[in-house]
Amino acid sequence: MASYDVIIIGGGPGGYVSAIRCAQLGLKTACVEGRETLGGTCLNVGCIPSKALLHASHQLHEAEHNFAKMGLKGKSPSVDWKQMLAYKDDVIGQNTKGVEFLFKKNKIDWIKGWGSIPEAGKVKVGDEIHEAKNIVIASGSEPSPVPGADVTVDEKVVVTSTGALTLPKIPKKMVVIGAGVIGLEMGSVYARLGTEVTVIEFLDAITPGMDSEVQKTFQRILKKQGMNFIMGAAVQKVDASKTKATVTYKLRKDDSEATIDADVVLCATGRRPYTDGLGLDALGVKMTERGQIATDAHWQTNVKGVYAIGDAIEGPMLAHKAEDEGMAVAEVIAGKHGHVNYDVIPGVIYTAPEVATVGKTEDQLKAEGVAYKVGKFTFMGNGRAKAVFQGEGFVKLLADKATDRILGCHIIGPGAGDLIHEICVGMEFGASAEDIALTCHAHPTFSEAVREAALACGDGPIHS
Ligand code: NAI
Repeated sequence: MASYDVIIIGGGPGGYVSAIRCAQLGLKTACVEGRETLGGTCLNVGCIPSKALLHASHQLHEAEHNFAKMGLKGKSPSVDWKQMLAYKDDVIGQNTKGVEFLFKKNKIDWIKGWGSIPEAGKVKVGDEIHEAKNIVIASGSEPSPVPGADVTVDEKVVVTSTGALTLPKIPKKMVVIGAGVIGLEMGSVYARLGTEVTVIEFLDAITPGMDSEVQKTFQRILKKQGMNFIMGAAVQKVDASKTKATVTYKLRKDDSEATIDADVVLCATGRRPYTDGLGLDALGVKMTERGQIATDAHWQTNVKGVYAIGDAIEGPMLAHKAEDEGMAVAEVIAGKHGHVNYDVIPGVIYTAPEVATVGKTEDQLKAEGVAYKVGKFTFMGNGRAKAVFQGEGFVKLLADKATDRILGCHIIGPGAGDLIHEICVGMEFGASAEDIALTCHAHPTFSEAVREAALACGDGPIHS
């Protein structure tokens, strides 16, 4: 038995980042993780491996569609799927080992196994009980079952994002249930690899919660890339054999039922907090109606000394939100002032083009009755984007009509996931659109499109 200032349960982006910050702040820290490797869903079966496959399949797309235009001639590369998966696994390994190295460097003990909390101040792993003045639950999330439908996941024919990252072969036909982030990212990967992908979505628009102009443009671009969409349809059931599946869905507009066959069905209808086995019931930890751990403004649960962060609590299920909470809760435990600005958390979809968003959408501003102005600039007016065949999409900046203060930004286009951070920093500093417009942006960069959108909030953009 060992005694710690802090024990963190879960070694994902929330947990491992929190552990590092705790150690940096001089706290004796341990992290409990039952997986063979650190890094949680994000590094092992989520963000990182999907980005590797997105990168590889994007390169193939470039070779097939754009190389010849640039005078790069020759046979298009063929796909060695085993090698592509090996590359992805290598990327995972490099990242998870990197976290292990950081633990050693910061003298954080990795307690291997699955933890539970028998009482405040104690964490049980296997037969051992460890003492901790503070406990941080960072146990993450798991795929939720398709709501209201009869679907059994076998991770072979009917898969979640986990199974979709290790399919034994590239399917001929794939049905994706849910046009959210996971469905569109993984759908993009397989569509580029030659799979016929059909996405079935309950709502009438893809990517719920995004700016509706972005939703429309995004769907149009994905359609052009070969993805099929069945909108306004609720999946009822999936009948699967060992090699095939039939998906039955009902159209909301007239209740008519139809079926579609696939080699693989990807269930991507959201995730739910993972809190199994922690002993939270017995400990008396308060939960929200949606099964999340309830916390106060300092991430403390109703049990003193027990904190929770990341996907297990309220808020967007994003690795970077968990990381921010991980750092902030460490500061709180160390007696400092941890803070997360939930109004400025970017969201990114890593398709091609990328989609990125921060702050309010135009739809939200309308609903809230806020007087706003829109500055929009299309990437067709950006020299760099045109040079690399990425002129599709736009930057849309929303600013307060009276004060010019930036309220939100929505980008679909090249490098959107990086470009958005200029606006995030601006929003943290309370910037106006004019502040961005008056900042010199290097030419030729994609970022000029952001400046042009800011100019469009004032006297007008130059290149449109
Ligand atoms: P999601 O919540 O983004 O989307 C789920 C979609 O499924 C919704 O559009 C919903 O209307 C639809 N749906 C629900 N039931 C249905 C039914 N019976 N038939 C048809 N459609 C149905 O969930 P997703 O994509 O599974 O992602 C889970 C979480 O992981 C999200 O919170 C997401 O933000 C996060 N994530 C973030 C990534 C990123 O930041 N790039 C990448 C992957 C996941």
